[in-house]
Amino acid sequence: MKNFQLQAKILSQTKIKDNYWHCELSAPQVAKNALPGQFINIRVSDNFDPLLRRPISIYGVSGAKIKIFYEVVGKATEILAQKKKGEFLDIVGPLGRGFSFNLRTQELKNLRTIIVAGGIGVAPLVFLAEKLKNTKPLVLIGARTKKEILCAREFKALGCEVKIATDDGSRGFKGKVTDLLAYLLSAIDYRPLVIYSCGPRLMLKAVAQIAGEHKINAQLSLEEHMACGMGACLGCVVAAKSGYKTVCKDGPVFSSEELVW
Ligand SMILES: Cc1cc2nc3c(=O)[nH]c(=O)nc-3n(C[C@H](O)[C@H](O)[C@H](O)COP(=O)(O)OP(=O)(O)OC[C@H]3O[C@@H](n4cnc5c(N)ncnc54)[C@H](O)[C@@H]3O)c2cc1C
Ligand code: FES
Repeated sequence: MKNFQLQAKILSQTKIKDNYWHCELSAPQVAKNALPGQFINIRVSDNFDPLLRRPISIYGVSGAKIKIFYEVVGKATEILAQKKKGEFLDIVGPLGRGFSFNLRTQELKNLRTIIVAGGIGVAPLVFLAEKLKNTKPLVLIGARTKKEILCAREFKALGCEVKIATDDGSRGFKGKVTDLLAYLLSAIDYRPLVIYSCGPRLMLKAVAQIAGEHKINAQLSLEEHMACGMGACLGCVVAAKSGYKTVCKDGPVFSSEELVW
């Protein structure tokens, strides 16, 4: 897979709410090659603090632009949020193995997909939903409270059916998004082709278990801590049935049957 290192110009930087930001970057080579589930590795500072690049998913592509959607959680993302339109970011990408989707299969009628998103895990899934339009994805979004629901409008604009689960019941189903998934799989009258998911590890583990019980393939995007981001340092390995795998190069997307939890 081809990837590029470049100085990407910031075309826009917008605070969406609380700690969440949208940013558009001019990165023609990355935009041309990016697939949903792939990410860019960003150096946020010219000095060595923070030393490591930070992985951020590709949230969308428009012409020569890539879009990212990020949450400020620590030093690097804080510095990133202070960058202004017109500044440049040193990025490498597109990196990793993204979601797989067979367009010919998608064109078949009556096949649907389910997308399960937890927290900032929505970021790569909006880009994926654009590619899956033909399968009329059913999107389940999980959040602690209604204030933390992300991207419901974006998924709806893509023609997806959206259902919400909140821990406190302030919107939609009261409980975990995986409880909603389990409930819906026993209630719907169709069998989804694939379940795609990204979010916290415990959520992904539950998605894998539920998908296994229903004999549905699930593709899960893991968000491990990373160092090199290119498969060289083994800083991001996870256990798989065929041995240890790097999240940055073999993943971040893995088939649910492949992983050992
Ligand atoms: C493939 C991939 C794609 C990602 N895509 C996005 C995205 O689109 N948008 C986004 O906001 N974030 C994304 N992340 C997570 C993002 O990389 C981290 O939030 C970021 O590196 C934090 O850097 P920091 O210096 O701001 O915080 P740090 O000081 O490094 O960490 C702050 C807190 O966040 C936790 N944390 C940091 N990195 C991770 C991680 N990878 N997984 C779980 N917890 C972590 C730390 O344990 C700590 O509690 C992605 C991660 C991966 C591996
Ligand atoms: S971060 Fe170095 S191998 Fe994955």
